Amino acid sequence: MGERGIRQFLDIGTGLPTAGNTHEVAQRLAPETRVVYVDNDPLVLAHARALLTSTPEGSTDYLDEDLRNVDGILEHAARTLDLSRPVALMLLGVVIFVGDHEDPPGLVRRLMDALPSGSHLVLSHTITSPAMPDVDAAVAFWNEHGTPKLTQRTPADVTRFFHGLDLLDPGVVSCNHWRPEPPDEPLPDEVAMYGGVGRKA
Ligand SMILES: C[S@@+](CC[C@H](N)C(=O)[O-])C[C@H]1O[C@@H](n2cnc3c(N)ncnc32)[C@H](O)[C@@H]1O
Repeated sequence: MGERGIRQFLDIGTGLPTAGNTHEVAQRLAPETRVVYVDNDPLVLAHARALLTSTPEGSTDYLDEDLRNVDGILEHAARTLDLSRPVALMLLGVVIFVGDHEDPPGLVRRLMDALPSGSHLVLSHTITSPAMPDVDAAVAFWNEHGTPKLTQRTPADVTRFFHGLDLLDPGVVSCNHWRPEPPDEPLPDEVAMYGGVGRKA
């Protein structure tokens, strides 16, 4: 995103703060970067202070909100982000929590519709694959005992989230093959997480 001039990020499904949070990575390249984090987990909210450590030139905000509330997210995000300028919408590992009956492609489309030309969608999703039956078994176990329920999708389903966008090379692939840095060890052929980056024309 540095090379593409993106200086604004809407990171939905942030997860617990860790080393190299979105704003830390982005602001290292461009200190003026603005980031809005969104998550619906009270545990993430409790640790959100670690996400609000912006550079003075940039800005970060945290919103305790659900991906399904597109209007609420956009209204709040507009306090920090200039939605007339390109934004990278990050949906990493979060769409799996939205069932098919809740129209996840529609949610993604509504978010992207609100962002201008030059915006990007960065999305990753756990896949189901005959080559990885253990993953299917783990998800089935989770769905039997845990909440929220998970909906695995195929690589073709993941690709459909990018409908109408220009997919950047190498397209929607196993995440370990999306422009990997030179690895210390050989890369596995495939991992259960597929993802890609698409640009809005
Ligand atoms: C698997 S973690 C991914 C974290 C981070 N994006 C990453 O890729 O490492 C998924 C996160 O999405 C959040 N989440 C799940 N369902 C959500 C929803 N409907 N709206 C907003 N956040 C959600 C969870 O609370 C969790 O923090």
